[in-house]
Amino acid sequence: VKTIGVLTSGGDSPGMNAAIRAVVRASAQNDVSVYGIKHGYYGLINDEFIKMDTHSVSNIIQRGGTILKSARSDEFYTESGRKKAAENLEKYGIDALIVIGGDGTFTGANKLSKEHNINVVGIPATIDNDIIGTDETIGYDSALNTALDAIDKIRDTADAHERMFLVEVMGRDTGFIALETSIASGAELALLPEELTNIKEVKRQLHEMLKQQRRSSLVVVAEGDETGGAVKLAEKIKDDFAQYDMRVCILGHIQRGGSPTARDRVLASRLGAAAVKVLKEGHSEVMVGVVNNALKITPLRVAISKKKEIDHRLIDLAKVLR
Ligand code: F6P
Repeated sequence: VKTIGVLTSGGDSPGMNAAIRAVVRASAQNDVSVYGIKHGYYGLINDEFIKMDTHSVSNIIQRGGTILKSARSDEFYTESGRKKAAENLEKYGIDALIVIGGDGTFTGANKLSKEHNINVVGIPATIDNDIIGTDETIGYDSALNTALDAIDKIRDTADAHERMFLVEVMGRDTGFIALETSIASGAELALLPEELTNIKEVKRQLHEMLKQQRRSSLVVVAEGDETGGAVKLAEKIKDDFAQYDMRVCILGHIQRGGSPTARDRVLASRLGAAAVKVLKEGHSEVMVGVVNNALKITPLRVAISKKKEIDHRLIDLAKVLR
């Protein structure tokens, strides 16, 4: 491998810049040239290639977002789109591609590799933490802490007014952020896509807890929960809790921004360097991850085959401690 391309795609996550930096710097150490491709697969098709060196990634490790920008590309879902992408890679003499993103990003990379024989390695980066083959994805820890900080603040005002708050956190298909923030914030209840939500049961549990002289109550709702999020849940339960003057707060995209935590920066640095290493070793169609503090290589087809399962022991713990 002499020249690689690197791109970020799908929803951004804090730590993507740290991963780009690690890819570029580890490549420089290995005499590999790097092109950054802007706007993900859109830029791959539309020739948005920029030459990168050690200096292009100075002073970015602490920044949220992605200096390469991110986008979703419908054209890349078509064979003709991927053909254009492969032609551009050839034009720049790029032998291998590192893609930083989630399962949608990996699905595209896997197709490109199979159809055009291009070596690809994936780096898992999404706040949802829904990728198997790594204990955590880049950005998850940062998003968790951003959400937790917001929830702690909501608790202050909820407590002052003795109100009930329904706080919606991100997580399209999985409840990792909802579950861990609910434990860390001492929330009264967490509603997750992984569990069926029985409205009668939700009401019963909240009434039960409110009987214990609680002055405020906080329910963390994953956006992908069965009820369809916090606004819909509020419609269903507000009349039963009228005396608690219910409020809804949707945290939304603030969870995707901000400076990455130390843990995300270290994870991104490890995975960026590992991606270059595995390409040099001749691997392709794989994802790099960290499992039990050791680097792990997972075939992309496995990584995209199913969503990571939530830890049911943590669900039980949340129930014991509320
Ligand atoms: O996949 C990450 C994520 O932030 C999800 O939690 C959320 O459902 C989705 O992206 C939002 O996507 P968009 O930025 O396109 O609104």
